[in-house]
Amino acid sequence: MTDQPHVALNDGRRMPQLGLGVWRTPAHEAADVVRTAVTSGYRAVDTAAIYHNEDGVGEGLGEAPEVFLTTKLWNDDQGFDQTLRAFDASLARLKRKAVDLYLIHWPSPARGLYLDSWRALIRLRQEGRARSIGVSNFVAEHLERIMGETGVVPAVNQVELHPSFQQTTLRAFHEAHAIHTESWSPLGQGQSLTDPAIVAIAAKHGKTPAQVVIRWHLQSGLIVIPKSAHPARIRENIAVFDFVLDDDDMGALRALDRPDGRIGPDPATATF
Ligand SMILES: NC(=O)c1ccc[n+]([C@@H]2O[C@H](COP(=O)([O-])OP(=O)(O)OC[C@H]3O[C@@H](n4cnc5c(N)ncnc54)[C@H](OP(=O)(O)O)[C@@H]3O)[C@@H](O)[C@H]2O)c1
Repeated sequence: MTDQPHVALNDGRRMPQLGLGVWRTPAHEAADVVRTAVTSGYRAVDTAAIYHNEDGVGEGLGEAPEVFLTTKLWNDDQGFDQTLRAFDASLARLKRKAVDLYLIHWPSPARGLYLDSWRALIRLRQEGRARSIGVSNFVAEHLERIMGETGVVPAVNQVELHPSFQQTTLRAFHEAHAIHTESWSPLGQGQSLTDPAIVAIAAKHGKTPAQVVIRWHLQSGLIVIPKSAHPARIRENIAVFDFVLDDDDMGALRALDRPDGRIGPDPATATF
């Protein structure tokens, strides 16, 4: 397999640009799914405490220290001390002494605790147990607040991003602050795969719609973490390094952006 691309994070570390997402991967399947991914060439896995499969992910990774591992702080555990305790619990489930990236899963602004939580992540990075730290589902206002109060810029912001919802304004903000954008639900939870424009581009290249969409994220400079629990699709989703989308393809994909394309909750108003 071709060497995989990495991105350079703002803290000097490198992160594989393509990884496996495991939301909704059942706990009892997670170990096998992760083993399949690693043997297929994946070098990054994205989980979270709330996915309730960190145990299986840790088991599947076993002695695979080269895999870049991300997990996330759940909303109920926000706050300085609570965050430190929740992180220890995640590490124990993952059977690791450190993770590569720890994210605040949602800003949950109604709780008023994301700044305290961010201070705890800074502590964890100083201790070397979270090698890089970042956030997820933060809008510009939340990012400005944590950066303004602490002077520490998140390495990534993981947000909903797929052809129907391209987040161009937020991406420009990230770029101005050297924050990497990581795309969650990169396949639109499967909805992108039947889009006629994407199906046509796939036919043109002799690839599948999923491969076209993943390639679009990669060529757009985004970190991408497609989820599949099926071995054939896990392999399919990493077989994306033998073709290139041309300017026409990229233009056609760019045109699929829609103001109402969001699938998940709006982080600015989400109440959980
Ligand atoms: N930070 C956050 O708030 C947040 C929110 C959502 C997701 N995420 C992360 O982002 C990851 C990916 O997002 P996601 O799981 O929501 O959705 P996704 O990756 O956009 O799509 C996953 C869906 O597409 C199907 N699929 C995958 N590859 C396929 C292929 N080659 N052909 C046909 N169907 C295919 C999967 O089915 P099968 O599994 O049956 O193959 C699954 O139903 C998550 O797993 C999680 O790690 C983070």
